[in-house]
Amino acid sequence: MEKKRIITAGFREEDLELEPKLRPDRLENYIGQEGIKENLRVFMEAAKQRGETLDHVLLYGPPGLGKTTLSNIIAQEMGVQIKTTSGPAIERPGDMAAVLNSLNEGDVLFIDEIHRLNRMIEEILYPAMEDFVIDIMIGKGPGARSVRLDLPKFTLIGATTRIGLLTAPLRDRFGVVHRLEPYSVEDLKKILYRSAQVLQVELEEEGAEEIARRSRGTPRIANRLLRRVRDFAQVKYDGRITAEVARFALDLLEVDKMGLDYIDRKMLMAMIEKFSGRPVGLDTLAASINEEPETIEDVYEPYLLQLGYIQRTPRGRVVTARGYAHFGLPYPGEGKGGTA
Ligand SMILES: Nc1ncnc2c1ncn2[C@@H]1O[C@H](COP(=O)(O)OP(=O)(O)OP(=O)(O)O)[C@@H](O)[C@H]1O
Ligand SMILES: [Mg+2]
Repeated sequence: MEKKRIITAGFREEDLELEPKLRPDRLENYIGQEGIKENLRVFMEAAKQRGETLDHVLLYGPPGLGKTTLSNIIAQEMGVQIKTTSGPAIERPGDMAAVLNSLNEGDVLFIDEIHRLNRMIEEILYPAMEDFVIDIMIGKGPGARSVRLDLPKFTLIGATTRIGLLTAPLRDRFGVVHRLEPYSVEDLKKILYRSAQVLQVELEEEGAEEIARRSRGTPRIANRLLRRVRDFAQVKYDGRITAEVARFALDLLEVDKMGLDYIDRKMLMAMIEKFSGRPVGLDTLAASINEEPETIEDVYEPYLLQLGYIQRTPRGRVVTARGYAHFGLPYPGEGKGGTA
């Protein structure tokens, strides 16, 4: 279900073609996240001046906000190679040892979905991160012994959408930890202008605004919607993306003016109609719209919370005045049908 949504922040098959082309490769072209960029600039400059490798970096936050992009930029700016792998790809300790062994001095090792590394493999990483050594068992049975091997100095960059699932010992070994935040409409517009240039499509300011507003604070969604709108502009109009074209295309795709789709609307309307805006428990809500509670919590809810359309209270979820206003409905008010 989630994969089918055009506004999913997760990676979709259709992103494959353009994402590599649209991915900025220098820090100066990486829009927004100013605090993170400023920090990284200082750390990278300092490391370079001392002739050292950059401290290990952990990037976390929702999908599509630019963790992979930023990791690649860091390697590029440091002038080093990047080796990419992911938590689920490393199944056995030997796999991890092989990856570490293949690094050259100064390299970046990027581990995506790092929360999915298993414990045994994590334990190999601890000495590797701290002292750039790895302990390998040689032989079996009573004659087995552990040998310590030196590794080249490297920078580990870990990325995760689920920081809560990272073990404390692993998290503590990162010197630099940053959370990526959703982007403002202004920043999304800048990203869209740059993408439009790469795609060689003319994008008017109001067209960019229209797309940015519906992109749920997420560059990946903005680029995906731009691509869809471009198709409409070419086929139905003269190729330019105006506000009218953007509105027409996005309405047809059922992405509304705040970036909500049918699932968001279904959930909000269920809360308004079936429960008259009173607090609803997660399980009850899930059953009423035929979804898993986890899906609601992890996937549907975050953006609605971010918009302030719903709120979590001790007695359950409630639709806020702002949520009612989205549908042009009168707010029943707190206490009546409303919040706890
Ligand atoms: N700050 C940015 N400036 C410009 N473009 C960006 C920025 N962040 C992300 N993008 C665009 O969004 C796309 C998705 O970003 P990226 O793949 O880095 O996200 P992610 O956080 O790694 O997502 P996931 O959690 O799914 O792995 C990139 O290909 C890039 O085109
Ligand atoms: Mg990624």
